[in-house]
Amino acid sequence: MLDTITIRTQRTTASRLQQLDPDRLEFGKVFSDHMFVVDYQDGEWQEPQIVPYGDMAVSPANSALHYGQAIFEGMKAYKNPQGDIALFRPYDNLQRLNLSAERMCMPAIPEELFMQGLSQLIRLDANWVPDSPGSALYIRPFMFATDGFIGVRPSDNYRFMIFTCPVGLYYNKPLRVRFEEKFVRSAEGGAGYAKAAGNYGAAMWPTKLAQQEGYHQLLWTDSSAHQFIEESGTMNVMFVIDGRVVTPALSTSILDGITRKSVLQVAHDLGMPVEERKVSATEIMAAQANGTLQEAFGVGTAATIAPIAVIGFQGQDYTLPAPSMTSFSQKASAILSAIRTGEAPDTHNWMVQV
Ligand code: COI
Repeated sequence: MLDTITIRTQRTTASRLQQLDPDRLEFGKVFSDHMFVVDYQDGEWQEPQIVPYGDMAVSPANSALHYGQAIFEGMKAYKNPQGDIALFRPYDNLQRLNLSAERMCMPAIPEELFMQGLSQLIRLDANWVPDSPGSALYIRPFMFATDGFIGVRPSDNYRFMIFTCPVGLYYNKPLRVRFEEKFVRSAEGGAGYAKAAGNYGAAMWPTKLAQQEGYHQLLWTDSSAHQFIEESGTMNVMFVIDGRVVTPALSTSILDGITRKSVLQVAHDLGMPVEERKVSATEIMAAQANGTLQEAFGVGTAATIAPIAVIGFQGQDYTLPAPSMTSFSQKASAILSAIRTGEAPDTHNWMVQV
């Protein structure tokens, strides 16, 4: 990738890389040495910089803190056996980031700024990209309002940043999830399709209640009758019913997941029927009862493909068959992982080298 924009770079004088234990990568706790920062002021993006990762000063009156004018993305970079580093579908993240920006009245991020920020940051911290099986460099681009103003209106000024962290598996065992029948993650016409910070904050309490009951995550249902499935936790969700891959169709309340669309593409490539449509809780429980529910799993950037072992419905737990090498979720997981690490051909041109 050509360096078409200049990013002023201040290198750290105290790298923390030696403290990293590549055999114990916990999600989101250890951050790479540098971060990318660019401010939006007077209607334009200012000079971008790469600086050592660290705390920063912001106005206590900024509307990200008070009114949630903040958005983010989750993406990953992988190292191939030759040591080259590539991003998985970064243009899809940019497109979604700008959709979220529009929904939250924020400025769009120009493609060059996003791609150059990513590639220069990741090249500088290349030694932080892990290469053990299942690991990756998780990348967190985000934007927030920076005006020191407490009136409720869109901020005039913003900061866009990217930091990264080496990660292993997000979930290390199959999940216990339960249908949520009281709270909603989002409603039609809301901001559920945007990766807006508030969507995640508001989901924490219902999730905590489910966790107190022994579940890892929720199966979110629609806001009108809690009848149709939307997502699971912070992931999209899929089922295999009688050999068909079934997933809730996208709507204004469902995030257009990049792992979601990649897994659906893999299903097409494997010749499996795919159904994107409304999926009701009763349909899933009926399929569970008659033995046609073969698999359920969450799909997301952080979690990749997370098999669901138990579904809680109306006070009862139902156990699903354990995934095997021939399960679609395991095959899709292996195919995506081989593409990401360059061990299988990238037939859809998903990988972008940094
Ligand atoms: C991701 O999968 O990247 C997410 O956004 C989930 C998360 C909030 C950790």
